[in-house]
Amino acid sequence: MPTTHAPLDPHAIRARLATRPLPGIEAAAIADSVIAIERLKRERDAIVLAHNYMTPDIYHTVADFTGDSLALAQLAATTDARVIVMAGVHFMAETAKIANPARTVLIPDLEAGCSLAASITGADVRRLKAQYPGVPVVTYVNTSADVKAESDVCCTSGNAVEIVNALGSDRVIFLPDQYLGRWVASQVRAQIILWHGACEVHERFTGAELRAYRQQHAGIRIIAHPECPPDVLAEADYVGSTKGMIDWVGQHRPRSVVMVTECSMSDNVAVEHPGTEFVRPCNLCPHMKRITLDNIRLALEHMQHEVTIDPAVAARARRAVDRMLEISASRKVA
Ligand code: 13P
Ligand code: SF4
Repeated sequence: MPTTHAPLDPHAIRARLATRPLPGIEAAAIADSVIAIERLKRERDAIVLAHNYMTPDIYHTVADFTGDSLALAQLAATTDARVIVMAGVHFMAETAKIANPARTVLIPDLEAGCSLAASITGADVRRLKAQYPGVPVVTYVNTSADVKAESDVCCTSGNAVEIVNALGSDRVIFLPDQYLGRWVASQVRAQIILWHGACEVHERFTGAELRAYRQQHAGIRIIAHPECPPDVLAEADYVGSTKGMIDWVGQHRPRSVVMVTECSMSDNVAVEHPGTEFVRPCNLCPHMKRITLDNIRLALEHMQHEVTIDPAVAARARRAVDRMLEISASRKVA
């Protein structure tokens, strides 16, 4: 994917910020940061890949590409930019480095973790493989490089069903999200062996909370991320990845909708859909929220924090990531 930034035009950036208001954000307050980042991107031959959970001041300004975990991995694998700044969490930056080792990958805050990635180690996977010899291991990308290195293939919430089906196995070890795993189990024929990980953001939603939204807002549509518990997914009109949820709103243009996921999604999508009322239960991901315009600027200024992976681990992890990317090759990411 060739990346060429247009020549820097600070006046055009200020004009765009002023004419496309972002909720709760003063254009004048962020203009200098946005211009500084745009200048640094050109100096460093860098792109900013931003997850859909970034705040609107990042998502709608300095992001060269936005997307779900799968789209970000696909974009990272094919970019020819020298530097990738991952506006997302650490496992996303590590996945970018695994997928495209020749690039310099920066994460603006090293503490931007994930409760799922923290729930399992490579040693845990080795124990499971000894317990279930010959059973293929499908690992959510929300994991460390060590865990990916022990896996047969990775998946994201956007392709988990497709990946499990592609293996054609009667039994699959699915790691580490118990809720995504249960949802996948409800969609496939294979028996799924689960781990006990959970997303600290999505596990807090409840079915009762969603039933209350239906009572309070007649005709509301409910769309949910598959990291939510089963009683939440049972209430949903649609279940899908963050990209799937955004596409669903674009296709169905509901009068009112609740996106059962991280807060910033609704903020970002509402900018594009002024005709839709977004009811916003607010569960923030504290890890995603560590990424700010300020630390993106610092990342590019000081080339920090560079993501490095032991080459032997990276080579093994790459097999699992590449296999996922091959299976999902036909999926459109732009
Ligand atoms: P997506 O791949 O659907 O964007 O999900 C990533 C994530 O971390 C959700 O909590
Ligand atoms: Fe991890 Fe959940 Fe945050 Fe996504 S929302 S990065 S799964 S803690």
